[in-house]
Amino acid sequence: MNLRLLAVAVLAALIGGAAAIAMLPGTRERLSGALPSTGQALVGGPFTLVDHTGKTVTDKDFRGRYIMVFFGFTHCPDVCPTGLQVISAALDQVGAKADKVVPLMITVDPERDTPEQLAGYVPSFHPRLVGLTGTSEQVAGALKAYRGYAKKVEDPKSTAGYTYDHTALVYLMDPKGGFVTHFNPMGDKAVDRMAERLKQAL
Ligand code: NI
Repeated sequence: MNLRLLAVAVLAALIGGAAAIAMLPGTRERLSGALPSTGQALVGGPFTLVDHTGKTVTDKDFRGRYIMVFFGFTHCPDVCPTGLQVISAALDQVGAKADKVVPLMITVDPERDTPEQLAGYVPSFHPRLVGLTGTSEQVAGALKAYRGYAKKVEDPKSTAGYTYDHTALVYLMDPKGGFVTHFNPMGDKAVDRMAERLKQAL
């Protein structure tokens, strides 16, 4: 992980932490004046995307199941493969209970990540991992809903000449679409930490 990615990861962790703190009962009061009083979580919300089979899906299609939301892209050299491996290993560690969870990877690079591209990528991590793409507007909408971050940056080493800095947090949403918790999929014991928290939440 280079320094820029590290900085993004740290920033994302801070934002995620702030979002989580903002959802604590005590702090919700103070925030309520600035937010619509719909009872919606600060993280999560509507999205419309296209899955790796080419089918259009929305957040509502996942109601009744937990979802784990991870933003990434198939050409990512390090953060995404690590994050997806950690998610897969944690789900396997949780066992049968984890069948209630649908892991999602939403691409931040819809230009290159077509449904076909995602279809060749997601099964190598987990048999139930769903790859999601869409128009750049649809992807931007999903990023906004999850307070996510993605920035295209020049990368002469990459064949296409660019890469993305992006959010690396994983969000767990409940069967009603509400925010449960977030995970940092990086670092020592990331699999164990994620698996333990999942066992508590499910
Ligand atoms: Ni990545």
